[in-house]
Amino acid sequence: MRADLARSIRLFRAFRTEQAKPDAYYTTLAADTAAQLLDRVSLAGATVLDVGGGPGYFADAFRRAGARCVCVDVDAGELTGQGAPGTGVLGSALELPLADGSVDVCFSSNVLEHVPDPWRMADEMARVTREGGLIFLAYTNWLSPWGGHETSPWHYLGGERAARRYARVHGRQPKNRYGRSLFPVSVAHGLRWARSARDVELVDAFPRYLPWWCRPLVKVPVVREFVTWNLVLVLRKLG
Ligand SMILES: C[S@@+](CC[C@H](N)C(=O)[O-])C[C@H]1O[C@@H](n2cnc3c(N)ncnc32)[C@H](O)[C@@H]1O
Repeated sequence: MRADLARSIRLFRAFRTEQAKPDAYYTTLAADTAAQLLDRVSLAGATVLDVGGGPGYFADAFRRAGARCVCVDVDAGELTGQGAPGTGVLGSALELPLADGSVDVCFSSNVLEHVPDPWRMADEMARVTREGGLIFLAYTNWLSPWGGHETSPWHYLGGERAARRYARVHGRQPKNRYGRSLFPVSVAHGLRWARSARDVELVDAFPRYLPWWCRPLVKVPVVREFVTWNLVLVLRKLG
């Protein structure tokens, strides 16, 4: 795929319509992410697990590329978000209901920051991936301009304060509540986990939505926390 500036602008424009046209936005994002995955692995005949896959937009994109894909999500409402439960399985990312080494590709998009123990989730993803298989883990880091999700950019003043402000202004709690369903995860933490986890090798780490020439930013401490937006870690399961 061409990770050029035009593609980043297209994604950003689509993102601005997320609330009004969620189907169009998630279909666009899933196709883009599938292309990133396909740059690294063939999905033809591959068994793919989408951790926290919700309504299955990514699973649909992977199936179009020839994969057999199952979503595991903790929320039955999210699994049926496109109407039918499809091939979703109810279960937790912190205790995946799969045997060791049972999938060729273990994928997750924007879930890590929603679990209270992110590195346990990452370990679980590594556990269920077969030797030689690929782990593709993408998440929104806390100091990203979108780190606070709908409470952004007030999360820069503190997650709790941002949540209270949101409730005051909108008359309801944010869906992504700091400390309950939204947790601060940094780029540095992700890289540290990737380099220290057993049985995995870090293949690549890059800012998911940004043009290719922004990739070196992931190597710059502090700066990377503010400009990465969303980090992708690509790992290979070792024997
Ligand atoms: C922001 S949505 C991301 C959905 C989709 N992966 C995407 O990128 O559009 C977060 C998803 O993670 C799921 N989730 C949160 N905690 C989870 C857990 N402990 N185990 C499995 N799924 C979880 C939520 O139900 C929701 O579907």
